[in-house]
Amino acid sequence: MLKVEIRRPKIEDQEELNQFFRTVLTDTFAREGLADLVEDIEADIESKKKYLQMDFETSGEKRYFLIALTKNKIIGTITCGNANELIQESTNGALRNTIEIGTIYVLSEYQRQGVGNQLLAEMLKTLMAREIQEFCLDSGFKTAQTIWKKKFGEPEYWLKDYWGQGQDHMIWKIPTKGVYF
Ligand SMILES: CC(C)(COP(=O)(O)OP(=O)(O)OC[C@H]1O[C@@H](n2cnc3c(N)ncnc32)[C@H](O)[C@@H]1OP(=O)(O)O)[C@@H](O)C(=O)NCCC(=O)NCCS
Repeated sequence: MLKVEIRRPKIEDQEELNQFFRTVLTDTFAREGLADLVEDIEADIESKKKYLQMDFETSGEKRYFLIALTKNKIIGTITCGNANELIQESTNGALRNTIEIGTIYVLSEYQRQGVGNQLLAEMLKTLMAREIQEFCLDSGFKTAQTIWKKKFGEPEYWLKDYWGQGQDHMIWKIPTKGVYF
């Protein structure tokens, strides 16, 4: 396991984080065989940049990031905040008041070394401290879906062919207190 430092982002981290989103999203889409979805990649990068800006502007109230670092380099992110539009719309508002955990990204060269688990564990502590009993999580990426199914079980909502033939979207509803590690 790679032991990382986990902390809140500072304004000085913004440029590195914006570059991080580009690197990790470009890489993830490519690994998923979706490298030609250039507009979707750009839209995702922009949405993450906006989330970060929102965190700074609201001191973490509307979007709350944690970042993972090793040797002063940012190698992972995670956020919590209100459930995104896709979740809200595709569940007919059932998760309108549920907090979402998202933007769980680890640079490819640092994946499978326990960094994602450390970020998740820290974010769960944050939710527990705020007495948030359950949260939701969504993904359209096949590898991530495999990981979350193994960890959290079957998704509450399984949107078949949401992104096209054979490309599903999944939404989990998860108790904050649970044994996930
Ligand atoms: C998903 C992601 C954040 C996981 O981070 P990570 O640091 O690689 O994860 P960890 O090493 O902490 O492993 C977490 C669990 O996932 C499993 N896992 C990790 N990568 C896996 C893979 N490629 N295939 C199957 N299982 C995998 C681990 O075995 C571990 O299981 P455990 O908790 O039961 O031991 C990372 O792979 C990533 O950034 N992927 C690309 C972006 C993405 O899809 N993010 C999720 C968006 S919803």
